[in-house]
Formats: sequence, structure tokens, C-alpha cells
Amino acid sequence: MKKDILILGIETSCDETAAAIVRNGEDILSNIINSQVKIHQEFGGIVPEIASRKHIENIAAVVDLGFKEAGLDYRDIDAVAVTNTPGLVGALLVGLSFAKSFAYTLDKPLIAVNHLHGHIYANFLEHRNIEFPAVSLVVSGGHTSLIYMKDTGQFELIGQSRDDAAGEAFDKVARFLGLGYPGGPAIQEAARNGKAGLVKLPRVFLDRNDFEFSFSGLKTAAMNLWNKVKKGSNCTVNDIAAEFQAALVEVLVEKSIGAVQKYQAKSLMIAGGVAANEKLRTMMKNRAQDEGIPLYYPSLLLCTDNAAMIAGNAYYHYIHGHFAPLDTNAYPGLSSL
Ligand code: KG4
Ligand code: ZN
Repeated sequence: MKKDILILGIETSCDETAAAIVRNGEDILSNIINSQVKIHQEFGGIVPEIASRKHIENIAAVVDLGFKEAGLDYRDIDAVAVTNTPGLVGALLVGLSFAKSFAYTLDKPLIAVNHLHGHIYANFLEHRNIEFPAVSLVVSGGHTSLIYMKDTGQFELIGQSRDDAAGEAFDKVARFLGLGYPGGPAIQEAARNGKAGLVKLPRVFLDRNDFEFSFSGLKTAAMNLWNKVKKGSNCTVNDIAAEFQAALVEVLVEKSIGAVQKYQAKSLMIAGGVAANEKLRTMMKNRAQDEGIPLYYPSLLLCTDNAAMIAGNAYYHYIHGHFAPLDTNAYPGLSSL
């Protein structure tokens, strides 16, 4: 009988201290997420120095809880996986240093995982029959990327944002509109009470025959509209939120569908924090259905940052013998795929 592979995943690239244990890249035995969102909310965004310090305070207890919830002993795991790129360098270093000491002490191999690959592989924790070649749309606070995957573990960047990432645009617009942090859920909520189309915002790059994105102009246009509203226009902040969300989502959906068609992919995955957006999920589902494209997205908890996706992706490194030396570094690398 094939031996089960148990991997501990550690994730500290941004403001979530997370640990999880995953069996064979698909069964989540534990998934602990300690979010610092309440702390950063006070500042209207993430303060990197505070994020690092909070990771240091929390990491040992979070990992411990991961073992408790899984009912496992430290020695039961086969490898320690950790995000080492991209992210806030101080935050990444906390998880990486902890993972190295843990692996060294237990004499287990270390696996370094790219956070974006982790986001994509969150899909494999819940869906068993994803066929390749596939196209993945990764939409998070730091990235908006369309990735072509010929097979598992093969990532080819086919387009990305030239300026703001989708999540970043959500966060900045929400802050400007006074809706709070994190901006994605806040705009989604406001949009429920607003009407898209009452005012018109641009669908940037929609008419271009490529897979590049740009959200900075859309962000500025939304902010300018808000200034007009304050001077007495008759649309509301909720209408702006609804139109902003609709404009951004429409571009994400059409470019993703276009990429699947151009590359003749057999499936489409969406991943990252913005993949939790209900408008994006619904619109993508409808368009994919129309075009007969199998679409996959993770459940809400696995869209935003977590360590199960890191342990899940690490399984494929494990079976291919891709281990990381103990002098592996952390790379903030803003555009690293
Ligand atoms: O993947 P993630 O948790 O962290 C990064 O890797 O960046 O993504 C965080 C981003 C934030 O910008 C947040 O506003 C956005 O995901 N987000 C959403 C929603 N939930 C989180 N954006 C739109 N709609 C949501 N429901
Ligand atoms: Zn992320």
C-alpha cells in the first residue's frame, strides 16, 4: 500500500500567521489561520513592521495548534513546507526561519513554496479532476496574473497587471470611499446596496487583444467620481462601489475566458483573495458555462491566505524530490510568478 505523505505548511507572507497539515496534497487535517486584520484595520492597511512582530509572537502557538487539531505528533510529518516568495520580506523571514529550525530539529526535508503557486493549488484541495492544460487567474492583494499551466507544476505567465493588482485597487478605492479595510469585502458589501451602470467607469484594456491588465486608471476614475458625489451628484457611494466592482470583474472575466480559448485549455481556475468576490465567482461561472469551460474556484476560506494551500502545493514538490537547502532565502520579488 502507498504510504501517506503528511506535510506541515507554514504561511506568513502577509498578515496571516497560518499553519496546516495536509495528507497527499488533498486532505486537510488541520488549517489554522491567525489573522491580524483587526490590528492593521486601525491603520487602514498593513503595517509591515507590525506584521513581522505579530508573526513572531504567534507562529509557535499556531503550528502547535495545527498538530493538535490534526491529532498528530511533530515526528509524524514527512516534510515542512513554507512560503518563501513573494510577500513582505520581514514577514516571510519569520515563517522561513521557523520552518528551517523545525525541519532541522526533526530531521525532515524543507520545501520552499511560491505563494502564488499555493493559491492556485488551493483548487486541488477541493477538486479532484482538474484537467491540463489549464489557465489560472491569480487575483490577490499583490498580483493579477493569468498563468498557463501545460501540466502540474508548470507555470507560464501570459499576462499581468501593469500597475495596481486587483486586490490593491479594491483596497485603495475602499479606503478613499471611506468603506474600511480590507477593501474587497467592504466594496462587495456596499455594492449590494448600489446599482452598477448608473455612472460609467472604464473597462480598461478590455478591447485589447492581449492578457495585460491595468487598474490604476479605473481606481482614479472611481475616486474622481466620489469627489463629484461629495459635491452633490445624485449617485451614492454604493453605486460607485457597484460600478467599480462590475468594471474590474468584467475585465477579469473576459480576459480569462479569452485566455482559455486562445490556449485551448481544458480548465480554468481562479485563485487568491479576490477570487472570494461573489460577483467575480458568479460572472465567471455564467461565462464559463456559456462557453462550456470547466471552472474551478476554492471555497471562501481557501481563497484568502492560508497554509493548507502551501502544504497542498508542497506535495507535488515532495513527490518530485524538490527539496530546499537550509540556507534558502526569502524573496519579496513583487512580480515573481
Ligand atoms: O490572497 P490574499 O489573502 O493576500 C495576498 O496574497 O495578497 O488577498 C488579499 C486581497 C485583499 O486585497 C482583499 O481586499 C481581497 O483580497 N479580497 C477581496 C475579497 N476578499 C478579499 N476582494 C474582492 N472581494 C472579496 N470578497
Ligand atoms: Zn495571498
